[in-house]
Amino acid sequence: MAGDGIGPEIMTEALKVLDVLKRDGLKIETEWALVGGAAYDAVGHPLPPATLALAKSADAVLFGSVGGPQYDALPREHRPEKAILGLRKECDFFANLRPANVFPELADASTLKPEVVAGLDIMIIRELTGDIYFGEPRSISGEKGQRVGINTMHYTEAQIRRIMHVGFRTARQRNNKLCSIDKMNVLEAMQLWRDIAIEIAPEYPDVELTHMLVDNAAMQLIRNPKQFDVMVAGNLFGDILSDEASMLTGSIGMLPSASLDANGKGLYEPIHGSAPDIAGRGLANPLAQILSAAMMLRYTFNLPDTANRIEDAVRKTLAQGLRTSDIAKPNEVKASTSEMGDAVVANM
Ligand code: IPM
Ligand code: MG
Repeated sequence: MAGDGIGPEIMTEALKVLDVLKRDGLKIETEWALVGGAAYDAVGHPLPPATLALAKSADAVLFGSVGGPQYDALPREHRPEKAILGLRKECDFFANLRPANVFPELADASTLKPEVVAGLDIMIIRELTGDIYFGEPRSISGEKGQRVGINTMHYTEAQIRRIMHVGFRTARQRNNKLCSIDKMNVLEAMQLWRDIAIEIAPEYPDVELTHMLVDNAAMQLIRNPKQFDVMVAGNLFGDILSDEASMLTGSIGMLPSASLDANGKGLYEPIHGSAPDIAGRGLANPLAQILSAAMMLRYTFNLPDTANRIEDAVRKTLAQGLRTSDIAKPNEVKASTSEMGDAVVANM
């Protein structure tokens, strides 16, 4: 599902990478589906039933990006964002893995001092199916001048429990540190969040669990990001903190993500948006899309070696000095979207 803006052009590069793997024997069938503004333009809905049905029958969805200024005035249910929210909810892709790691070649691309971010490797686990995103009641009501806007932070024990387990298990595969993010000093839903985290912790005695209020976490991410290993957060706080964490790395154009259900099926997408301002000009960085395909091979298809092959090729490409404009320094030669993709393919 390539979607809108730069989605189609970066998807083209990711598919080149998959073509290499197919040529080398990977058995994978791909189908295309309309999504987002492109689907709205074609059939009047950002998540057409045919697209949802295809997503449900597929093992994995490789997703580009959706959205654009021409859709901002549409009613909420027709906006492109509704597609990604609908896919998450309908397919129960509840566990969002958002890595933020700094490639050594790009340590000086961050706005923070290189010594603060060099070697950074954190994983944000964000819950995707609950919270204020989906809570009821929600509305704008009343007469103009007296209107009231309402959204509801809503979490069930079961929702918190399953994402907490993902957090603990992920910490186990890394450095055994899990920091749970909440706002228990003000919000009941977040008190429950913390209570469940504490309740589950004894099942993972080898993992060190800490808690942090979200405002402090926002500050600590800038002050000393390397103190974190795995962070687990609800839908809203995870949305905000993962954007912040991505910027520590210098380019949001580099970061992939996975959204998994309980059985390992998943949706894989770049963390960045559709970047309508640069769409169609060959300026976009395709690496987040390519690395999303690598995550897909690792998490849904259980092919870590194949995922490593892609990630190594990306690293090599950066080491060779290729830079799209988002990560290039002013005096550096800038690679186009397809030059970057071709270089990754060559390095495979
Ligand atoms: C993200 C995005 C989405 C979100 C938007 C596009 C609905 O910001 O995936 O982080 O808020 O979840
Ligand atoms: Mg976001």
